[in-house]
Amino acid sequence: MGMGYTPSPRLQTSLSGIALRSPILLASGTAGTIDEMNDVMDITLLGGIVTKSITRHPREGNPFPRITWTRAGMLNAIGLANPGLDAWKADIAPRISAVSNNIIGSVAGDSIEDYVQIASAMDQVQSIPAIELNVSCPNVHSGLEFGADPAALTELVTAVRSQTPNTKLFVKLSPITVGTPNTIVDLARVAVDCGADGLTLCNTVPAMGIDVHTRKPILANTTGGMSGPAIHPITVRLVHLVYSQLTKDTNTPIIAAGGVTRWEDAAEFILAGATAVQIGAGSFADLSIPRKVAKGLDKWCVKQSAASISDLVGQVKLS
Ligand SMILES: Cc1cc2nc3c(=O)[nH]c(=O)nc-3n(C[C@H](O)[C@H](O)[C@H](O)COP(=O)(O)O)c2cc1C
Repeated sequence: MGMGYTPSPRLQTSLSGIALRSPILLASGTAGTIDEMNDVMDITLLGGIVTKSITRHPREGNPFPRITWTRAGMLNAIGLANPGLDAWKADIAPRISAVSNNIIGSVAGDSIEDYVQIASAMDQVQSIPAIELNVSCPNVHSGLEFGADPAALTELVTAVRSQTPNTKLFVKLSPITVGTPNTIVDLARVAVDCGADGLTLCNTVPAMGIDVHTRKPILANTTGGMSGPAIHPITVRLVHLVYSQLTKDTNTPIIAAGGVTRWEDAAEFILAGATAVQIGAGSFADLSIPRKVAKGLDKWCVKQSAASISDLVGQVKLS
């Protein structure tokens, strides 16, 4: 679907060597398993699309209702509904090369073997430039455990890295480390030390809503993951911490996700240290948001006298 906006060269950027037309990606789970969004928005202005997380076996996900809106964003407990690896290989993988944009494959699993099997299958698909490891889904048990435990994360990222020689590897972390002995910087360092080429920060924040009339949880799963504007400032801080304490030195790009609904939200992420941003709940609410964010970022570059958006990465002025 053409809407007649071509991102200016100022928005072109590189994500560990992957050329992006703009720093704006669609977040995993919010944009289908391939290019479904092409029917409703101009995907050519994007830097790419992250697929729904694929698991070894097909998953129906959690019972309904599994999405609800709150005043400050969306609460979901989809539970990784997806067609599974075999159907992905048969039906989706062969179509990826026809998509005129970067398709990043998202992987989730219950075990290291699952992650390795899916990631290595994605690695064989020439048109996939990068894989994002979802080790932070709040709506199933296994993923978050991998993402919160340095020993498990070490084993997982090392194992996947050794089986994905052709693709870049991004690790997507949880924003929540409260109650665990490790900070997000510790976990990010583990991922980078084990060979991650990029960090996606972050997944949703565990949350809950209650219907006061029925006194029942709104989501059938009781709890879910919060996304949208409420989590944006929380995520800005995490991007800032990881950038300033780790990736500034290791040169590892950060892909920020959390509540981008206006260009200023994306700009804040970039100043905090993100090379690219993902839009999730925002494009559920309003399909024109990615285009508005792209246009706003371009004007911002001009006003900031930046020849390239990449010149603004990490450029927050700290006193
Ligand atoms: C309906 C829905 C489904 C999601 N499914 C996935 C998923 O399969 N894998 C994943 O890594 N993240 C998933 N996420 C998390 C998003 O990719 C993103 O990290 C998060 O929503 C924060 O960004 P946002 O505030 O722009 O939505 C999902 C989010 C939503 C709202």
